[in-house]
Amino acid sequence: MYQRSIIVLGILIVFAFACKHTTISPTTNPNGNNGGGGGNGGSSTNCSPDTVYFTNDILPIMISNCTMSGCHNAADHKEGVILTDYNNIMATSDVEPGNPSSSDLYKVLIKTDPDKIMPRPPMSPLTAAQIAMVKKWIEQGAKNNSCTSCDTSGEMKFAANVQPILQANCTGCHSASSPGGGINLSDYPGVSVVVNNGKLIGSITHAGGFSAMPKNGNKLSDCHISQIQKWINNGAQNN
Ligand code: HEC
Repeated sequence: MYQRSIIVLGILIVFAFACKHTTISPTTNPNGNNGGGGGNGGSSTNCSPDTVYFTNDILPIMISNCTMSGCHNAADHKEGVILTDYNNIMATSDVEPGNPSSSDLYKVLIKTDPDKIMPRPPMSPLTAAQIAMVKKWIEQGAKNNSCTSCDTSGEMKFAANVQPILQANCTGCHSASSPGGGINLSDYPGVSVVVNNGKLIGSITHAGGFSAMPKNGNKLSDCHISQIQKWINNGAQNN
């Protein structure tokens, strides 16, 4: 019974969001900096592959890896650094647009001394790809930019669709080395647990009775939520 009502709810959510995923709101793309490509006709993306976008790429890394309890959220602001939004990042983390090697936000990521590197052990360092993204974003002027890239058509797969969303937004706080609330979202078995107990959808839709996720961050986009929902509706397979 319970499962069936979740499925029905899920289908309703997918339908409710299905018509929104191609909408590109001017307010979410403040700099209009989308490389001039894509973004028109029936395309569902205006993201340029050569651009690193703050809202899409950088902020989720910061929220997920740096804002946990005791670290760089608004309440704890360790060393005065707050990494929960663009204005605070620019005001407190010593970013010098165009110049990663004199930007603390980048320099701390590549330290080899365990007492200096961020995130601090036992948390894992950022991946090489994430570090490269932060570097490129600063090189490109550390802008408050965003683009729209999400498509809910076709079958949603764990590896291609769901896992990248979780990796971008959740695994800094929910990995084997830092399992917030005892939850590990870095692999399929861990994700299955919260699919099956309903907490994944409850938390990302900010449903009553669940903790709203991502903690300290913005709600996932409607499109990302419906991608995850669609994957669950289709049996939440390890595909
Ligand atoms: C900044 C750290 C942080 C981020 C980012 C984060 N979480 Fe959490 N999450 C936690 C902590 C800590 C808990 C346990 C305490 C609580 O429930 O608030 C938790 C709890 C949960 C729970 C259990 C909720 C419940 O009601 O029992 C789920 C499910 C969850 N997270 C999923 C996610 C997902 C999915 C994402 C990414 C979209 C995410 N989290 C991002 C820190 C985080």
